[in-house]
Amino acid sequence: MLSQVVMRNFETVVYEKKYNVAYVTLNRPQVLNVYNTQMRDELCQVLGAIRDDSEVMVVVFKGAGQKAFCAGADLSEFLSAPSPTIARRVRWERDIWGLFLTLPQPLIAALHGYVLGSGIEMALCCDIRIASEDAQFGLPEVGLGIIPAAGATQTLPRTIGQAKALEMMLTGHRISAKEAFEMKLVNRVVPRAQLLPTVKGIARQMTRCDPMAIRSAKQAVMRGLDLTLPEGLELEKRLASSLLQSKARNSLG
Ligand code: COA
Repeated sequence: MLSQVVMRNFETVVYEKKYNVAYVTLNRPQVLNVYNTQMRDELCQVLGAIRDDSEVMVVVFKGAGQKAFCAGADLSEFLSAPSPTIARRVRWERDIWGLFLTLPQPLIAALHGYVLGSGIEMALCCDIRIASEDAQFGLPEVGLGIIPAAGATQTLPRTIGQAKALEMMLTGHRISAKEAFEMKLVNRVVPRAQLLPTVKGIARQMTRCDPMAIRSAKQAVMRGLDLTLPEGLELEKRLASSLLQSKARNSLG
């Protein structure tokens, strides 16, 4: 079992491991944890370390401070770049969003306060989203002359359906935690004080399960979403049998 490990060498992200759970905290509370290129680079390092760490069974993402999980992209970087397009291109130099989607462990987002732009997009890269009652969700990009480009044009309609996704995206209208729950954007809404205890409770429940079974179940669901039902069932059969085989090998070895 893991003891507690905190990696201190980051400025915009805090990374801790406690008893097989990795906690990633977006840590720019003075500017509502907005996402800048430094955060992108630090997250890339953290996610790469998590992906290759067999001791990490579950990952929790959360935001520091009282006001926000993440209020989107850092607009000061957009304003100082020659153009929003160039600012965007700089962000695409590293495929952080693709990296999120390759993590084999379950990812849980603990969402409070403002969850805007890339904040929603990061939450959509997670498997389970728990919100506190004060959370507000919105995609302000079109009002800024850009489109969401950290995956939301694809992940949001797959999560809440085409019509609701387009309404959020094309109006920039912000929705409450209650509305987010009703449209299945989040799994649960809890009082603010219960947010972390709830998320930790879910994570702990997962750590009591077989780690290989957890990863295989996630893989079956995530890969299956892009397949036909017969293909998905075939995938399920393959994963179930390879899980059994590796368990048999482990019990022999
Ligand atoms: N980029 C850079 N800085 C940001 C920011 C962003 N996207 N959003 C907020 N901040 C900064 C503010 O400039 C402010 O800094 P300051 O104290 O040095 O002035 C600090 O975060 C707090 O924000 P503030 O606007 O004072 O908080 P608020 O509670 O009054 O309003 C919001 C919160 C989220 C409604 C408002 O900050 C906002 O609309 N932000 C822009 C959201 C956005 O468009 N995101 C980009 C998506 S692509």
